[in-house]
Parts: sequence; C-alpha cells; structure tokens
Amino acid sequence: MKPNFALALSVLLVLAATAFGQQQTDLLTNVRGRSVVSLNGNWQIIIDPYETGYYDYRYQPREDGYFKNAKPKNPGDLIEYDFDSAQQLNVPGDWNSQDDRLLFYEGTIWYKKSFDYQKKAGTRLFVYFGGANYVADVYLNGQKLGHHEGGFTPFNFEITNTAKNKDNFLVVKVDNKRRRDAVPTLNTDWWNYGGLTRSVTLIEEPETFIQDYVIQLKKGSLDEIAGWVKLNGTAANQAVTIEIPEAKVKNSVRTDANGYAAISFKSRLQLWSPADPKLYQVALSTGSNSVSDRIGFRSIETKGNDILLNGKSIFLRGISIHEESPLRGGRAFSEDDARMLLGWAKELGCNFVRLAHYPHNENMIRLADEMGVMVWAEIPVYWTILWDNTETFENASKQLGEMITRDRNRASVILWSVANETPVSDARNKFLKGLIDHARSLDPTRLLTAANERHYADATTQVVDDPLGQYLDVLGCNEYVGWYDGLPEKADGLSWKVSLNKPLIISEFGGDALFGLHGPKSQRWTEEYQKDLYEHQIAMLRKIPSLRGVSPWILTDFRSPRRPLPHIQDFYNRKGLISSAGERKQAFYVLQSFYRELMKEGK
Ligand code: GCU
Repeated sequence: MKPNFALALSVLLVLAATAFGQQQTDLLTNVRGRSVVSLNGNWQIIIDPYETGYYDYRYQPREDGYFKNAKPKNPGDLIEYDFDSAQQLNVPGDWNSQDDRLLFYEGTIWYKKSFDYQKKAGTRLFVYFGGANYVADVYLNGQKLGHHEGGFTPFNFEITNTAKNKDNFLVVKVDNKRRRDAVPTLNTDWWNYGGLTRSVTLIEEPETFIQDYVIQLKKGSLDEIAGWVKLNGTAANQAVTIEIPEAKVKNSVRTDANGYAAISFKSRLQLWSPADPKLYQVALSTGSNSVSDRIGFRSIETKGNDILLNGKSIFLRGISIHEESPLRGGRAFSEDDARMLLGWAKELGCNFVRLAHYPHNENMIRLADEMGVMVWAEIPVYWTILWDNTETFENASKQLGEMITRDRNRASVILWSVANETPVSDARNKFLKGLIDHARSLDPTRLLTAANERHYADATTQVVDDPLGQYLDVLGCNEYVGWYDGLPEKADGLSWKVSLNKPLIISEFGGDALFGLHGPKSQRWTEEYQKDLYEHQIAMLRKIPSLRGVSPWILTDFRSPRRPLPHIQDFYNRKGLISSAGERKQAFYVLQSFYRELMKEGK
C-alpha cells in the first residue's frame, strides 16, 4: 500500500475509532428535531460558466468576487453583476429541470439569499445544507464560511459571529463539473443535476447543545439499547437525560470533558419491522437544551447465508430507485416525492428498496422508517474511480461518514453499501476495505455490502467470488442476463456458484422498454421483451439457494446523458417498471405477482 495512502487510512481509522463509532465531525444530526428557520424558496442566481465571479482574468482567485454581493456606490463604480435583479431559482431544487437552458449545464452557478435574523442573546447560530451538487463554497456577508465536496450528503457551518440581525446575504458558489478524481468520477449513468438540491436551514442552539447521538439496539440484542451522546460547547461535562415516555424509560448519563457519554440500558421495546414499523418518541435533554426524535428499534444480522431481522429470517423483496421525481423530471427532494416513490414500491409488494447510487435525501429515509421499508444506502463509489488517489479516498470516506452520521438512528436503514460495479484490483480492494473498516468503526450495528459483478466459469455457470466479499456481510451482485448479456431465455440454462456462505442480493437485473411500445417478445425496447426478461429472470433467481433479496433495476425510467437513442430513450434510461409519466409497464405486474407469491410463502 502506498505510504501516504496507508497513512491517510490509519489517521482516518484512529479518528473514527473513538468509543462506539463516534466520529469527530461537526455535523448536526436530526435537524428536524431542533429549533430551525427555513431559507428555502426563491434564491437569486448568476450563471457563471467561466467562474468570473471567483477568478480574475489571470485565473487568480479574486478578492472582490461575487460573494461580496457588491453594489455600485457612486455613478462611476464598475460592478458587472447584480444578484438583486438576477434570475431566481427554487431551493431546494436542481437547476437543470427549472430552466431548459440549464438542462445539460455543468459548471458554476452562484446562489444568493438575503435574510434577517434576530438571534437570542447567548445562543449560537448554524446554517445547514441538506445537500449541494457537487462542490459548494459558502460565504456569509462576504466572508468565507467553508467548502464542501460531495453532492448527496449534508454539511453545516457556524455563523454565530458572522450573522447580523438585519440584511445578511448568504452566497453559495455551486459547481457540478465532473472530475476524474472525484466521487463519483466522470462517467455515470444518471443525470448530473446541479445546485442546492436540498433544504437550507438556520439552526439556533444554546451555547452548549446536543450535537449528535446514537440510540439503537446493541448488535445481537433485542432488549439492550446502546449508543452515545455528544455535546458541543464549553459546558461539556453535564447530565443528559434520555427519555422514551411511551416505554417508561428515563435514563441519565453524565458527559465527560469532551462532552461525550456512552448510553446503555435495558428495555423490552416493540420492535420495528415492515409489518409493524413502530417508532418511539425519544427525547434527549440537558438543563438548557433538548432534542426529540422518532426512532425505531430492530436488530439486523446475518447467520450463514441468511439475513435475520429481529432474529427471524427475512427475504428482501426490493426495487432500485434513483432520487428523481419522475413526473417533474428533476432531483427528488420533498416528502411528497418520497411518498410517491415509496408508495409505488409498496404497490409492487416491496419491503425493501435500494437507494442508488448515492445517499438520498432525509425525507426518503424518514418516510421509509414510517412506512416500514428496509433500505440499502450507498455512496457514489461508482464504476472506475481513482483507487490510488489519497484525496479521492478521503473524499469517499467523508461522504460515507456524513451518510452514516445523518442516518444511523434510522431503523429502516439495514445496509451500508460502499460501491457499485467496481473493477477488481489490489488498489480497489484496499480502497474499499478501508471504507468498510471506516463504516464498521462508525456503526457496528448495520450490515456492509457492495454491488459487485459476477463472471462465467463456463458457458452456463455464473460465479460470485469477488475478493471483496470476505469483508462484507451481504454479497450484492448486478447481472444483466437477457439485456447486455444475451437474450432473456439465456437465464433458463444458467446456474450460480457463490463462493462464500453469505446472503446474496441480486442488486440489479432488468432491461429497457418504452411504455406503449408493443411487439413480439423478441423485439427489444417493447414491453413484451421486458416482461419476458423478468419472467425468465424470476425462474432463474428462484433456483439460487443463498438468494436473500433482489432489487431489480429500476422502479422508474430516469434521465441519463448516456442514452441518446431517438424516439426510444431520448436521454432516458428506460429500464423502469414505471414510465417517466407514471405509467405501469407489463413487467411491473410480473414482479408484483412474484412478490405476492413470496409473501404467500411467508417471505
Ligand atoms: C449498471 C449500473 C446502473 C445503470 C445500469 C444500466 O449496472 O449500476 O447505474 O443504470 O447498469 O445500464 O441500466
């Protein structure tokens, strides 16, 4: 392993290895359980393909960039931009689906929001972003707050000393340009939606407040709650009470000089499951601060090639989903978007969804908690990223940390996935092993997986033996028999060899069909072809002994810049079971009846 890469990895593990997965981040969790003010709505924007607002003509960073929100004071003053008379866009929202001129736009757009905020004495103020694709440089009142890379995870900055009571201007430079060393890298099969794609929120807290916590069932236990709480502030050493009123739980701990305390107590709670997605009101409080949350308690583990939820074997009847609102044709972000997508998944008969290929917005995860849908959550380590690049590794690890920090109190999330369809190599294995270790140090309770590939031992034997499997709890495998690999009936003669005695999830299979295009089942792009493919797939899958779940590709057609075929794709991947207009294709009903059969079989 290259020295600097090894060093980066060990530093990261030490950082992460503080007691019970607490990672030294400044991310505030459970924003909706705090006192907040939304900055959503119309923001002024400046489209800046040449980054003129950031660099001068010598391509040197400017002192007087657009983040200054400057106004001419005298008639002779030369200011060549003006937010207040500029175009507006909605936040949250991607820019591509809000303005036809920006559909294919990849570059920088500056966002500006003005606001007044009367802060109470002795309190602290933070600005929180649910997500901004891809790189965000954030300024308040002309001062740089910070920088964030990664389009699908939250970040926040403290603005206690930068904010004024009146006429604040928050300026964000968002750049979604793709880079070879980034995560994801240059090539993906989804639309590179740019912008402030998720909510922006002001959070007011007392001087010392509850920054982060974990309250979940201890690994392997059905009645022992374990976790920790982390305070942020000078009064670090104080009592914190954890209450679950409905279960008559009242437990008190004392934080140490770093504001940290472990939590451990016994309670026989009603367990969360798809059939009964029980969520408890949980409150954490100190003398001056309290945070409330809705948390489900369930155990998830593997036993040989079985997956056990609350100690019972479970089959994951799933579907893959992109974070795209099919009807609006843009990035999904709202509760309504989530309710529609998860509602369609439930209509299919799903108890599980694979949220591909990046962390989806918190509304999706919270609703999965409520609706009883188990979740595979993933970071965009997708196809062939730069495995030997230290910054790329740190970037991927940071995204992983932010995803886990945001969602580790969510019962619905049962699987963390560290990668999708990555080519086997020593550098790749070491990179992903590093991520797996990082995830385990942050969350010892959930299962680790990755969507890997298979190969042929001979013409009819498919083999799942990716070396990464030894580090995973659950083996994910994508296969496209009948679409990229032969015709649908090829599945009939295939057998599967899985090298490890671990649960297998077929994390992708499928084929494209344009809704309403009909013809013989041998004709590609027709609904009949897709239906036939699903029928052959299901017959093959039923024969795989260690199969414990499937998440076919994909719930709905979605935009992709890699799909130009006129009158068929038109820049949409058409592997959805539901069209981009919400119409169910014939294959939708094939999968639905397969899941009904499984339910009858108690799966
Ligand atoms: C890949 C990949 C998906 C992609 C799909 C397809 O397996 O993981 O992101 O969209 O195949 O080709 O349709």
